Amino acid sequence: MGEMHEANRKYWDAATPRWRELDEEDWRRCPERPSIAFEGNALDMIYEFVGTLAGKPVCVLGSGDNYAAFALAGLGAVITSVDISEQRLRVAEERAGILGLDIGFVRSDAADLTSIPDVKYELVCSTNGFFVWIADLIRLYSEISRVLRPGGYYIFWDIHPFMRPWKNQRILEMEKPYFQAGPIRSEEQGQTTYEFHWTLSDIINSLLKSGLVLRRILETTAQDPRFWQGASYGKGSDNSLLDWQNNPRAGLPTWLTIVAQEPST
Ligand SMILES: C[S@@+](CC[C@H](N)C(=O)[O-])C[C@H]1O[C@@H](n2cnc3c(N)ncnc32)[C@H](O)[C@@H]1O
Repeated sequence: MGEMHEANRKYWDAATPRWRELDEEDWRRCPERPSIAFEGNALDMIYEFVGTLAGKPVCVLGSGDNYAAFALAGLGAVITSVDISEQRLRVAEERAGILGLDIGFVRSDAADLTSIPDVKYELVCSTNGFFVWIADLIRLYSEISRVLRPGGYYIFWDIHPFMRPWKNQRILEMEKPYFQAGPIRSEEQGQTTYEFHWTLSDIINSLLKSGLVLRRILETTAQDPRFWQGASYGKGSDNSLLDWQNNPRAGLPTWLTIVAQEPST
């Protein structure tokens, strides 16, 4: 795990200027409009299970662009924002300063949370495109379980595993078997990355093995075509991509949202 996560850390540090340029606007609106930061009905799940966030300690893992951290801070939560990339955290810290948000930023591997504050969190949250970077799900979930207060929640939304096997085109054609989780080694802009395309059972069984209790699972489709246009920010332009008859992958779940709970006793 260590070497692969270290390679990914270097990649994310190097990729930070590019990601920063992708979005110069939406991050500013997250505290006022928290829905911008969440897909897959994840914000509804947070409201339903955690309720009001004011004053509650919340940890956002693999925080990246920090939309979720900014949004939850806007709702009054006391945020610890954790990412493996120093550079991504630097951008987020600068932006939090502009927004007047008091967020604790910690550089750490999400699968080893020993360096984060000794707090028992009410909620741990991760979002879009996080699992793919984690080599050992049981270690990740065990760490999440350890930092949650008894009865606290881990709520995430991420790319559904059923999105992974396909070629990125309108004609449905497989790129690889669903069961080929990885590590998938790639070279991008001179950096090596290792991705993990976990199956649904990998995600759920690892969660259960770590002692977390599954409370809700949602499978939803993208509401904005930007997902199909390879964008993470802004509005997509081609609504025909939301119609499975034009774009068969739109007939599969795009997002996986899970609510898990640390047992109370
Ligand atoms: C595609 S981004 C997704 C995160 C966030 N939802 C976003 O949209 O920015 C992936 C983020 O995970 C971070 N990351 C990768 N591996 C990590 C690890 N092992 N522990 C913590 N963060 C990690 C990267 O630095 C990057 O900021």
